[in-house]
Amino acid sequence: MAKTIQNQILGVLGGGQLGRMLIQSAINYNQDIHILDPDPNAPCRDIAQHFQVGSLKDFDTVYSFGKSCDVITVEIESVNADALQKLADEGKKVFPQPQILKLIQDKREQKKFYQDNGIPTAEFVLTESKSDVIAKKDFLPAVNKLGKEGYDGRGVQILRSEADLEKAFDAPGLLEKLIDFDKEIAVTVARNENGDLVAYPAVECAFHPTANLVEFLFAPAQISVEIEAKAQEIAKEVILKLDMVGILAVELFVTKSGEVLVNEIAPRPHNSGHHTIEANFTSQFEQHLRAVMNWPLGNPDLRCPAAMINLLGEDGFSGPVLIEGKEEALIERGVYIHLYGKKLTKPFRKMGHVTILDENVETLKVRANRIKELIKIKSTP
Ligand SMILES: Nc1ncnc2c1ncn2[C@@H]1O[C@H](COP(=O)(O)OP(=O)(O)O)[C@@H](O)[C@H]1O
Ligand SMILES: [Mg+2]
Repeated sequence: MAKTIQNQILGVLGGGQLGRMLIQSAINYNQDIHILDPDPNAPCRDIAQHFQVGSLKDFDTVYSFGKSCDVITVEIESVNADALQKLADEGKKVFPQPQILKLIQDKREQKKFYQDNGIPTAEFVLTESKSDVIAKKDFLPAVNKLGKEGYDGRGVQILRSEADLEKAFDAPGLLEKLIDFDKEIAVTVARNENGDLVAYPAVECAFHPTANLVEFLFAPAQISVEIEAKAQEIAKEVILKLDMVGILAVELFVTKSGEVLVNEIAPRPHNSGHHTIEANFTSQFEQHLRAVMNWPLGNPDLRCPAAMINLLGEDGFSGPVLIEGKEEALIERGVYIHLYGKKLTKPFRKMGHVTILDENVETLKVRANRIKELIKIKSTP
């Protein structure tokens, strides 16, 4: 029997919190999701229609998983893109397209892409090794980034002066001019196979000083109409130049002189879009689903100003989860807690997030700070 849109199977590589929130939206459409993840206890385990334990990097595992699906997407970039390419060559729908995943797996290729396509980004030089970084010391102050396998700040370090050269990465990477930015913002864009394209309003990200993870996110970003327009235009240009289908998060720097530069991109639902579940007409997860399934895209507009805080495992606690402050937080108006179902916590592990809605952006900031102090993820003694 020919498959209808209702019984197409969407396969997702990765079964973490992003996959879990994607499933939460897919349920509303009776859209079955099959998950592949190496961790038998991954957050999607109990809610996917089919959950397979296996490596995302192994060609045969990814290929045979993809064979059993109709449309394949990802919730993480580090997957076997060659297997996805073969699946695409054989007629499977793979979004984001495998060549885009390859590009994004290597920050060096990503930067070259911006350069070749006239997309504004921080000036950079490629480096092959630690001694190469040392030889290029005139480029300091700079940010040294690993080409591959860095994520959540783990492949990124600031080299301010010659004294810092000692810690330079001894692997292929790049040096990027240290940008004295005014703000870090993110714009999410989505595109389906028909070519429909929408952009979300910009959000403002505040990073944790040491863990290098988003600590607070505010929507809308407090930026001028001109900067907002520029950021949206750049984000749209990136997805169009990539010819990509799916959702794309574009991280940008707004410099003190009002320039907007692309930092990096993620071709999947992203931490900077979690608030969209409650704060926007269409959440980033539903939008990704609509985009990869080639359904009409939804309205990305904000319904209410929002703040999002990541619930990270407290430093100093490892083991079975114990949550503090949940009851107090639940009493408040417009507070939405999301827990990702991870059984074990460890320092700075992403265990959940909270979205706070408030019409008044000033109160919103105060409340976000308070809720962040209130809810703590610790472990049972
Ligand atoms: N060129 C730069 N100038 C100043 N800060 C930067 C620069 N590049 C990265 N950063 C800071 O480091 C953070 C992490 O870098 P990023 O390239 O986004 O790596 P990751 O993959 O870890 O998210 C950014 O969000 C930003 O705060
Ligand atoms: Mg980043």
